[in-house]
Amino acid sequence: MAVDPNTNYTNAALRVGDVDPYPQRLVGEFIGTVVANTAVNDEYKLVVLKVHPHALTAYAGQMFHLLCPSPDGAEVWMRRPMSVYRVDKANGRIEFLYKTEGRGTRGMATLKPGDDFNIAGPLGHGFTLEPSWRNIVVLGRGVGLATLAPLSQLAAEHKVGVTAILSARNPGVVMSRDLFEGLGAKTVTVLDSDGSSAVENVEKILEGLIAENKADAFFTCGSNRLLKLMQRLGKKHDIPGQVAMEQIMVCGFGACYVCVRTFEVDGKRILRRVCREGPVFNMQEAVGW
Ligand SMILES: Cc1cc2nc3c(=O)[nH]c(=O)nc-3n(C[C@H](O)[C@H](O)[C@H](O)COP(=O)(O)OP(=O)(O)OC[C@H]3O[C@@H](n4cnc5c(N)ncnc54)[C@H](O)[C@@H]3O)c2cc1C
Ligand code: FES
Repeated sequence: MAVDPNTNYTNAALRVGDVDPYPQRLVGEFIGTVVANTAVNDEYKLVVLKVHPHALTAYAGQMFHLLCPSPDGAEVWMRRPMSVYRVDKANGRIEFLYKTEGRGTRGMATLKPGDDFNIAGPLGHGFTLEPSWRNIVVLGRGVGLATLAPLSQLAAEHKVGVTAILSARNPGVVMSRDLFEGLGAKTVTVLDSDGSSAVENVEKILEGLIAENKADAFFTCGSNRLLKLMQRLGKKHDIPGQVAMEQIMVCGFGACYVCVRTFEVDGKRILRRVCREGPVFNMQEAVGW
């Protein structure tokens, strides 16, 4: 690793085994080594990376900015933001669950075991749990479930019960059920294919959980209509909530203001950067999309 003799500082990305000359730094650029990159269903893949110990400080709801390889030889401009799916401290690994969408994620899909993968982070503010919460409800859809899944890890560490409502188009693309259940969460699957994902049905499920005192807080990601539902029920029953937002990003650390979204705070509309003030926000302040 090259160190500038004048500043004693290195800008080089850290690899497994490197000694960090600035151990107090919270965010860094790391070269992970791909351990596996496998399909979990027709649309999603899971990439597992062996990383420098500093990258393992990521917690639920935080993200990394990924320097995706090219799928076609031409350059991929800009990094791609991705929530951390799982942190496996025992094995020094982190995982990302991703949907293959455009050139960046198509490039990710080409990664093979042993390849280098440059990631920057952990970035942003993730989910928090209040000590008084005993049971939380997590409601997500599509790739939003990748962002919510590590909450099960955080909740298990804090001995907080989780009910996860997993919304998907059909049974083939339901995600993260194993991860939630493996950490003790109760899961409920709702689908477009049988109509159970309709807002009225999800509302009934949520009202049932509230009646059973299983909803000290709400968490959501991935669907505007589910956000609106949780906001409405949160207001009605005075249940606090957090939402993980997505927005197109360039810098990922607060400098360019590309990722601003509108929030409503004390009756006033304000702008906040998703990468810096988020990506997790107070659910009642999010305006939605
Ligand atoms: C905080 C955060 C967490 C995310 N976590 C995940 C995750 O865990 N798994 C996952 O599959 N996806 C996640 N996404 C979405 C992911 O960033 C996009 O799918 C990805 O950037 C698309 O890149 P692409 O090159 O494949 O697609 P393209 O459409 O070719 O991308 C073109 C440009 O649009 C941007 N872009 C496109 N879609 C999105 C989007 N939804 N959000 C932000 N930028 C976008 C890209 O960064 C790029 O600059 C997350 C986004 C954010 C902001
Ligand atoms: S992406 Fe640059 S400020 Fe958020």
